Amino acid sequence: MKKNSSSFSFRNGELHAEDVPLSRIASQYGTPVYVYSRSAIESAYHEFDLAFEHHPHQVCYSVKANSNIAILSLLANAGAGFDIVSGGELQRVLRAGGDPAKVVFSGVGKTKQELLDALMAGIACFNIESDTELGLLETIATQTNRIAPVSIRVNPDIDAGSHPYIATGLRENKFGVTPDAALKLYEKAHQSANLQVVGIDCHIGSQITEIAPVIDTLDKVLELVDELTRMGIEIGHIDLGGGLGVRYRDEIPISTDAYANAILQKLGNHPQKLMFEPGRFIIANAGILLSEVLLLKSNEDRNFAIVDAAMNDLIRPALYQSWQKVSEVKHRAGKKTWSIVGPVCETGDFLAKDRDLAIQAGDLIAIHTAGAYGFVMSSNYNSRNRAAEVLVSGERHYCVRRRETMEDQLALESILPGLDQDEDQTCNRKALK
Ligand code: LLP
Repeated sequence: MKKNSSSFSFRNGELHAEDVPLSRIASQYGTPVYVYSRSAIESAYHEFDLAFEHHPHQVCYSVKANSNIAILSLLANAGAGFDIVSGGELQRVLRAGGDPAKVVFSGVGKTKQELLDALMAGIACFNIESDTELGLLETIATQTNRIAPVSIRVNPDIDAGSHPYIATGLRENKFGVTPDAALKLYEKAHQSANLQVVGIDCHIGSQITEIAPVIDTLDKVLELVDELTRMGIEIGHIDLGGGLGVRYRDEIPISTDAYANAILQKLGNHPQKLMFEPGRFIIANAGILLSEVLLLKSNEDRNFAIVDAAMNDLIRPALYQSWQKVSEVKHRAGKKTWSIVGPVCETGDFLAKDRDLAIQAGDLIAIHTAGAYGFVMSSNYNSRNRAAEVLVSGERHYCVRRRETMEDQLALESILPGLDQDEDQTCNRKALK
């Protein structure tokens, strides 16, 4: 199967996730609920992987896009490595049965503890983003008598053409180092007994729909690789990061074949293994957010459908003004133009604007392309419990994260003990030390 489309389709007038009607998921697990399709996840992974089958490569799924351990375990079984950005993500990968030897660690602010844990776990590569970080890793590796595998993240100063918040390859962004600074860091790493240069990496942004910036970046990276080779520093792999865009509305994403062909052509005879860190491409279209219409409300200007999902469940529309398709779960007659909004007390709490839908209170709606950067960016704002997550495989469905309860939320908090009594205040101060 070759398509990065979702496995959500209408059958007998009702939207299904694979073979399961969404109304069944809603009645069993409640709403709002994230619903993922196993076949969509696996086919997107295989599509990406197959596009590079004629060159040594490793696809490292970017955990930040969706870090549910059920999804990580499916990908680990399919052969994926992982791109992590925190110690928490490393723990998730290990818990899901991922192979640490296929893990790359990105991020501008890795802590001492995170570096140490990843070194002890035996990850494939630390993607280094500053001189300070390289020094810190060297110290930790020396103290533990280990050799840390490193790559330097190059910031090529290239515009990926995506939303400014998710473009990362410009000089003004906090990510990576300039090519000149990279050369210096490579020399330093090369001379260290406790660091081993294994690769070079970059990531210019997310939701990229033009191939040119990717190829221009690779061009700059290859210049550096050649320069390093002349200096006697061997680069084993080139990590091109993630970023391959998907269709939310009418974007024309780069096909995996076009992406691979352009990259392999530019690579020419360079023997380096290629590494990739796709997140959105693998998981965005494999998930929807299912929500129930609570009530309809109209004024002279607008029709509002107030639904039980909100900005705390899916923040992308509010944060990036992103457009995500909304559909009814069951068709009915009588379309009107609606703003789909949540119950949160902010005007920014909208999921979609100006959508032609036929809906009534009690109906279910699906917000599409919500598998990536959906649940992972959710919060408890307004003391709302985070949604459940359900994974569908054929006719089966599994709850892979139960809905939070108020007990879950309150379990982490406590009331100050007897603030009105002096003694207790002392007690409390002691406890804080
Ligand atoms: N590698 C690195 C170093 C990254 O920073 C990212 C994403 C990826 C890989 C994966 O990129 P992808 O293939 O998913 O485009 N919350 C935003 C997206 C933020 C992306 C951050 N970095 C959104 O909802 O659009």
